[in-house]
Amino acid sequence: MAAKVIDGKQIAAQIREELQKEIEELKSKHGVTPGLAVVLVGENPASQVYVRNKNTAAHDIGVYSEQHNLDASTPEEELLALIDKLNQDPKIHGILVQLPLPDQIDEKKVLNRIHPDKDVDGFHPMNLGRMMVGEPMFLPCTPYGVQKLLVYSNVDTEGKHVVVVGRSNIVGKPVANMLLQKAKDANATVTVCHSRTKDLPAVTRQADILIAAIGVPEFVTGDMVKDGVVVIDVGVNRIEDPSAPKGTRLVGDVKFDEVSEKAAAITPVPGGVGPMTITMLLYNTVQSAKNTLKG
Ligand code: GUN
Repeated sequence: MAAKVIDGKQIAAQIREELQKEIEELKSKHGVTPGLAVVLVGENPASQVYVRNKNTAAHDIGVYSEQHNLDASTPEEELLALIDKLNQDPKIHGILVQLPLPDQIDEKKVLNRIHPDKDVDGFHPMNLGRMMVGEPMFLPCTPYGVQKLLVYSNVDTEGKHVVVVGRSNIVGKPVANMLLQKAKDANATVTVCHSRTKDLPAVTRQADILIAAIGVPEFVTGDMVKDGVVVIDVGVNRIEDPSAPKGTRLVGDVKFDEVSEKAAAITPVPGGVGPMTITMLLYNTVQSAKNTLKG
């Protein structure tokens, strides 16, 4: 039986429509326009596309956004000084520094410098700690997007075995933590596996819900899942394909054709998690703007 394909674009559009109404109200009732600053250091082509998409999406729903492009050779101090300036800027409610950063810059130092109140990426240790103890302020956008995809697709996580493949700080660790929480839209039994896991397919075959975030093209194959699994594919990998017009194409961390034969539901790449990440960034930016009204 072929799987239901979870349409991330459609779900993202639905959430953005709701957000747009909130933004209009913030503007008309409170004179506040949510503002986002996106910082790109260097010319990583994938990052350039992500940043452009974030700015366009912000603009489209009425969020003020500004982009700061810094040279690849920018010293760490200069980036930190820009963050300090944005931390102080009242029209900016969210600051996002696109990762990865060039080698001369210490990523941890940069993420720590963004004020937790403006950390719409949810990467500051303060926000990660809050998430862990169940008192979240900003949740990291991709994991949050994964949770919303499940909710909007009516996939109940309560008591289910969620297996996360990958343990990055951006996706694997936070998504595992979020779905583990004693909270609505969570309450799952969570297993995290990774490159050092022994007999990883034996673990993934236990999954009721499988979240693939390992960064290896088409890593999860049909024999690694059980019938009826729900699969969320967080991977974005560009692979060579001589038959494609550009000679390359995007694939996820899941071998879609094989796995969709067995799955009850599955996200495509592109058009699955990707649009949700940007949507949750906008969501966090709007929340941040609303937080300033609380005084
Ligand atoms: N690089 C890849 N994903 C992300 C993300 O969600 N936020 C930032 N800032 N950089 C990224």
